[in-house]
Amino acid sequence: MSTQKKIVCIGAGYVGGPTMAVIAHKNPQCTVTVVDINQERIDAWNSDTLPFYETGLLDIVKNVRGKNLFFSTKVEKAIADNDIIFIAVNTPTKDYGVGKNMAADLQHWEVIARQIRKVAKTDKIIVEKSTLPVKTAEAMETILNTGSNVHFEVLSNPEFLAEGTAVRDLLNPDRVLIGSRETDTGQKARNEIVEIYKAWIPEEKIITTNTFSSELSKLVSNAFLAQRVSSINAISAVCEATGADVQEVAKAVGADSRIGSKFLNASVGFGGSCFRKDILNLVYICRMHNLYEIATYFENIINMNFFQMQRFVDNVVSAMFNTVAGRKICIFGCAFKADTDDVRDSPAIPVAQTLISEKANLVISDPKAIDNMQKELGGPSNVTFVADPYEAAIDSHAILIITEWPEYSSLNYQKLFDVMVKPAYLFDGRNMVDRKKCFDIGFNVYSIGKEALIH
Ligand code: NAD
Ligand code: UGA
Repeated sequence: MSTQKKIVCIGAGYVGGPTMAVIAHKNPQCTVTVVDINQERIDAWNSDTLPFYETGLLDIVKNVRGKNLFFSTKVEKAIADNDIIFIAVNTPTKDYGVGKNMAADLQHWEVIARQIRKVAKTDKIIVEKSTLPVKTAEAMETILNTGSNVHFEVLSNPEFLAEGTAVRDLLNPDRVLIGSRETDTGQKARNEIVEIYKAWIPEEKIITTNTFSSELSKLVSNAFLAQRVSSINAISAVCEATGADVQEVAKAVGADSRIGSKFLNASVGFGGSCFRKDILNLVYICRMHNLYEIATYFENIINMNFFQMQRFVDNVVSAMFNTVAGRKICIFGCAFKADTDDVRDSPAIPVAQTLISEKANLVISDPKAIDNMQKELGGPSNVTFVADPYEAAIDSHAILIITEWPEYSSLNYQKLFDVMVKPAYLFDGRNMVDRKKCFDIGFNVYSIGKEALIH
């Protein structure tokens, strides 16, 4: 049982909200406050409609909200009142100035450091939860401690949750990583954070390192995960050219315990708010240290991903006699992955944009993400949004499966085929369907990393 602690998290997003809800749930003796400058988000956290969809999250929030978990917009008050400050603000890729389109944009981070410096009257432990370039903790300590009367210890505790499985990942993570200085104050602060996690995480899963290793490990983890997807996607093109089947290859290769079977699902491409951003961040760090070959090595993970998305949509256009202008095309799934309503960097966006520029009439369907996709695409006149896939498919020439929603495996493809224009095309960007069955129904079936089945 850990001791009573007063914890605040700055940033009530996909990481800050769920992480703090679980910390509060598992540490009933601690008081946890989550603050954000976005009033709408805080209002949503205080309601029964949370700001985003995440399985099991509402139950946990409702259990602790108002008891030892609080959501507020009073950032400065929370900084002053609490001893441990987690920071989980967004760190997007910089879109201006030096490092444009590559480095992490640390402007929110810097604002918060100065705010803490201004408000704090007692010693604080600052914990980086956001994903950050190596040495950010060191820079923050310099901003905070220079000429200050109080002591700030900055630690790194990156988050590894994946969207859609956030609660499960937080309750049962593969590891918790805590980076700190090797000094006495560093060790003491680290033990405070270890104690919070020990409330539910076995000690052997809590890895402690120096701060730089912790910061770098987060970027490397995402780079390695994305690299597996890009590797199998590269092989999917080879499979299509040679008659091999990418799922058979992935199974055979992944059966080697040194390689492992996870993250080998070939797809239209990976999406999400972090893989591309974090790899770019790593590439930028390599370039800053004149490690150009290493930068190029990691950058190719992203290049491969663009190639795969473009290859997919080029296949659609060429299979449909090189013109989709004026033809109705259905996109099934616009979330960047299943079980989330998040469309940030979703492969559905470039696919849709290419088809819009080809003058196709798009109908976009998704169980959860339609509202976010509508905001993302703006309002081009040749796009409509229809939640029900059967309604979406009426009079369409093609269905494109972009998100791995499990329900797309069990749709009634005969029913879909019946309402479509013939020849009807099925482009399965996630290898979800029983392709033989769909071919027998009458579809021309194009899968990822498999020979096309064409009538
Ligand atoms: P997000 O955009 O959902 O949330 C960030 C929140 O920070 C926003 O609500 C924003 O209003 C708030 N914010 C920004 N500046 C602020 C300020 N000055 N004061 C108070 N609040 C402020 O971002 P996210 O997806 O939660 O990601 C946060 C960080 O965690 C990023 O560094 C990301 O790389 C990392 N991460 C994300 C995930 C994920 O699955 N989304 C997983 C692991 C790590
Ligand atoms: C990823 C990591 O998995 C988390 O550990 C990390 O904390 C997080 O990024 C982050 O730093 O933000 P997330 O982006 O939520 O999590 O989702 P993933 O499950 O990793 O999927 C990313 C993308 O890869 C999705 O578009 C998914 O469909 C795709 N993918 C995944 C494949 O195409 N094939 C696979 O085999 C696996």
